[in-house]
Amino acid sequence: MPGDKSITHRAFIFGSLAEGVTTIEGASPGGDCSSTKACLSLMGARFEPEPGGAVIRAHGVGTLRPPNAGLDCGNSGTTLRLLMGLLAGSHFATELSGDESLNRRPMERVARPLRVMGARIETTSGRPPVRVTGARLRGASLTPEAASAQIKSAILLAALGAEGTTTVHESVATRDHTERMIRSFGGVVHSEDREIRIEGPQKLKATRLSIPGDPSSAAPFIVAALILPDSELVIEGVLLNPHRVRYLDILREMGAKIETQVTSTSDEAEISGRIVVHGSGLRGIELSPSDVAAVVDELPILAVAGAFAQGRFEVRGAQELRVKESDRIASMVEGLQAMGADIQELEDGFSIRGGASLFGATVGSHGDHRIAMALSIAALGATGDSEVLGAEVVSISLPRFFEELERGVRP
Ligand code: S3P
Repeated sequence: MPGDKSITHRAFIFGSLAEGVTTIEGASPGGDCSSTKACLSLMGARFEPEPGGAVIRAHGVGTLRPPNAGLDCGNSGTTLRLLMGLLAGSHFATELSGDESLNRRPMERVARPLRVMGARIETTSGRPPVRVTGARLRGASLTPEAASAQIKSAILLAALGAEGTTTVHESVATRDHTERMIRSFGGVVHSEDREIRIEGPQKLKATRLSIPGDPSSAAPFIVAALILPDSELVIEGVLLNPHRVRYLDILREMGAKIETQVTSTSDEAEISGRIVVHGSGLRGIELSPSDVAAVVDELPILAVAGAFAQGRFEVRGAQELRVKESDRIASMVEGLQAMGADIQELEDGFSIRGGASLFGATVGSHGDHRIAMALSIAALGATGDSEVLGAEVVSISLPRFFEELERGVRP
């Protein structure tokens, strides 16, 4: 798998903030991370690929300078939201926007807590374009309104430049890559029991980073191996951060035979290792709403696993899916129904009576990389040919998705 998307965004951002040269090995080649790189480049950071492309050097400048145009975050919510936090304490004004999908997504959830710290941010009826006018920030005690690593990370980025202590109280623990990366860059952040505390201002030091493979990109291949008879799949060097591989536990609960072996050492910032999968029969389960935050990116592909499982697979408490790159509840229900699955749309999730034989159909990606991949895997398990419209959107996170799939699947 190519490098993890969430960690790559953060590596680019922190590499641009820290003074000196940061070496990044195994960065994600996806379009979302290119958006982050392009925005940071416009503000004076320099990225140089080494021959072979495996290593990027980020020439941080300590302080970023005003871009001479608005920042285009493309399809990437992580880019826009994390940059809001980064730019809130800058000494200039910036406008951030994105493509049609990103410009529909809610941004007040990030703007509101940042304003408590003194930030000057205007959204357009709650959405992009977002105008951030740099201001002097002070620490604050904040409770994000959604279980979101993007909100938490935007606050932590602002807190690094703010005067005093910032505390984030999370209702559900979310992915902790920002906290781990601040420490990799020599910063100090305390986390305990869903409470993250950080003192500002702090200066970061350039470092060397090696980014493990993306477990969210691995998920479609894992589900493919589970639903296609007699499959065996080994993926090396994948991120095994517990916040990111909860979907493996859920698949195991459904009866999947999946083993993981940690191969990273204890001095590495993130845990990584090998995932081994054997084709297995699956049974439906009811997902607990408290699990949703940890599998938010894998719910589309878990829906596919549910469609191929025996019994009922139900997800509730997942209203966040409606404000992702597409309305992922509606997109999956539409796509799987077109293939003959017995799936019902719920306001905050979906319910599937698994085991129906799926047949090939023409389905839409809705411009959403995770939907394009999930429906392609459903198509592999279906009888007959399918067409996934707009499937090229896989390039947002995994440009080689179809090549990798062809390498592993024998007709
Ligand atoms: C991400 C956090 C999640 C996730 C997104 C990446 C991150 O979003 O869905 O793909 O890198 O912090 P939320 O924070 O909105 O849940």
